[in-house]
Amino acid sequence: MKLCSIFAMILSLLLTACVPRSPLNAAPIFSEGIDPSLRDLTDNRKVEIGAAFSIGQLNSNFLDTALLVREFDMLMPEHSMKMGSVCYARDRCSFKAADELVDFAESHDMTVRGHTLVWHLNQPKWLEPGRYSRDELMEIMHDYIDAMVARYRDRVPIWDVVNEALTLDGALRDTIWLRGIGPEYIDLAFRWAHEADPNARLFYNDYANEEIGQKSDAMYELVKGMLDRGVPIHGVGFQLHTGLGIAPDPQDFAANLKRFEALGLEVQVTEMDVRIQGGSGSRQDKLAAQARVYGDMFRVCLQADNCTAFVIWGLSDRRSWVGALTGVEDAPLLFDRWYRPKPAYEALDRALQNVS
Ligand code: XIL
Repeated sequence: MKLCSIFAMILSLLLTACVPRSPLNAAPIFSEGIDPSLRDLTDNRKVEIGAAFSIGQLNSNFLDTALLVREFDMLMPEHSMKMGSVCYARDRCSFKAADELVDFAESHDMTVRGHTLVWHLNQPKWLEPGRYSRDELMEIMHDYIDAMVARYRDRVPIWDVVNEALTLDGALRDTIWLRGIGPEYIDLAFRWAHEADPNARLFYNDYANEEIGQKSDAMYELVKGMLDRGVPIHGVGFQLHTGLGIAPDPQDFAANLKRFEALGLEVQVTEMDVRIQGGSGSRQDKLAAQARVYGDMFRVCLQADNCTAFVIWGLSDRRSWVGALTGVEDAPLLFDRWYRPKPAYEALDRALQNVS
């Protein structure tokens, strides 16, 4: 490790340990060169700009926390609302981390995007497949949705109700919920969420659904069917975990958003990151290509009447799930490991300032 890396790490640790948690004290660290912030620039627009954020960051990473409140007006809890992080026994759940994140967001005038009520991953150990009857599984799901959504009623206005229920070829994913309850688990989840907070906007969220194709066609049919049956669904989330060489075509993405608008649905980009490991050329070339992807996708969202949020899955390249996912260190986010804004950040900034 280089000497300067060690020095910066020690500085970060000292700041984290010594400075009180009010992020406002940190604003000057990040002010230079990025004024106005993305958050300032989206102020009077229909689009909220968000980032995933974890309780660990809130409790121990002062720099991340300061950056979050400076640049973003929407917070998406990375883990703290997933069943596996909340309910450590069937009848024992702790909302402490989620409470802290929601309180924190409110105190900084940020919207919380609730994520996620029904998923096949991050499930508690006690929720073993085959252990529960259909009725019990319905009760478990209902209790969880009710506990979460009612707890934050009128405080968390948007929920990812069902996450990643489709496979790449557009079939319903074989999950504990599909197996145990049947395909109607999706409708039920939305109906129960609506009962718990009739004002909340309820989303179906998925990945690899940005371009028109097998998976997004299946998603279109899924949500259209739900609307036809009177199921309370208000929007669709496009995760947009992508990378150089595999990024969606912007025009195709725009056309896809349009057909969901025609159904009367909102759309949001919910978890964007852009891996550079598949790119070619120098690192500088890759960061420039990454910036183009961010800029292109953001412009599509800004230009779509029904696109109401654009959320990045993390803050600085120092901390991203991509390393664990791919086994390769990457740089998928808007800020580098030293919290400096990258070309990708500038691309969003330019899109907001209407400069191409
Ligand atoms: C990821 C987190 O970032 C990881 O830390 C965790 O280990 C797994 O979940 N789709 C989603 C997110 O909807 O909740 C996932 O978040 C990334 C993929």
